[in-house]
Amino acid sequence: MGRSKITVVGAGNVGATVAQRLAEKDCYEVVLVDIVDGVPQGKTLDLSQAGPICGYDPRLHGSTTFDETDGSSIVVVTSGVPRKPGMSRDELLSTNARIIQGVVKEATKRSPDAILIMVTNPLDAMAHVAYRVSGFPKERVVGMAGVLDSARFRSFIAAELDVSVDNVQAMVLGGHGDTMVPLIRYTTVAGRPIGEWLPKERLEALIKRTRDGGAEIVNLLKSGSAYYAPSAAVADMIEAILRDQKKILPCAVRCDGEYGIRGLFVGVPVKLGQRGAEAVIEYELTRDERAALEASAAAVKELCAAVDRLLEKQA
Ligand code: NAI
Ligand code: 2OP
Repeated sequence: MGRSKITVVGAGNVGATVAQRLAEKDCYEVVLVDIVDGVPQGKTLDLSQAGPICGYDPRLHGSTTFDETDGSSIVVVTSGVPRKPGMSRDELLSTNARIIQGVVKEATKRSPDAILIMVTNPLDAMAHVAYRVSGFPKERVVGMAGVLDSARFRSFIAAELDVSVDNVQAMVLGGHGDTMVPLIRYTTVAGRPIGEWLPKERLEALIKRTRDGGAEIVNLLKSGSAYYAPSAAVADMIEAILRDQKKILPCAVRCDGEYGIRGLFVGVPVKLGQRGAEAVIEYELTRDERAALEASAAAVKELCAAVDRLLEKQA
């Protein structure tokens, strides 16, 4: 069997790092597409030349068109503009909605059976745009955010307790924004509930740091936003899908009544396998947890309404 083809749209920080992570797995063909001529070609050439050193056989193509993307199994969409210091993810809405509309149309025309992994912010609203534009079934449009937010939370807890990140399990649900919902009751360290490890105030501080995790990096970098952890999160989702792992990961999917949410992309636990988002796993939530998730969904709803008005004006 040949290699699965993966298209990565956007050869910026996240896209190029996703391409690097995939090249290093040595089992995929990767097509990197960007609007800026020379950038996808230059970066894939550079990545190909790392092959002899890193021990992989390069199957990488860089292009400003979608011509080489035909028949991709997965299309990762990272094209758009990232945040600047002081800017919210939501301010990116109109610029990125236009970009997403164009690239999703092009990519899905050539790869009608692909699974779309959305990355561009504001994430949940951009997944909604991709779902509308592609006409794909909801199982094949998945947003990356929860894996990243949960990894941030896990890394902060591990550092605080001086234990391996491997021992820390956590699930962050909700929209990828200030209203994200870390599920404390389901957060464990070596199987023991987090409440038995940390006092409430310390835990609250780590939750706040997780919510502000993206902004913390934006403020440090001054130009651009995080990409090492985001690209790792995308690669994890790709492996779960292409190796049909049935891995349960927090992802943004279009809920259809699950958790009382209907017709919106929100981060929930999802079983990822070869058909994409194969099932939403429903955890039992307390009244407060459910209220927090509903508040997060309400914030996503507002953004989606704004983006729908924008798309309708253009139509
Ligand atoms: P970047 O600016 O480094 O890269 C974006 C790339 O998109 C640029 O190379 C640009 O030329 C390209 N682009 C713009 N319009 C295009 C078009 N029409 N067709 C093809 N390429 C186009 O930005 P970075 O850091 O890679 O972030 C990308 C997006 O991902 C941003 O919206 C950012 O906010 C988001 N992001 C989301 C995360 C999440 O958890 N969901 C995590 C990290 C970033
Ligand atoms: C992050 O959380 C910018 O959404 C991106 O790092």
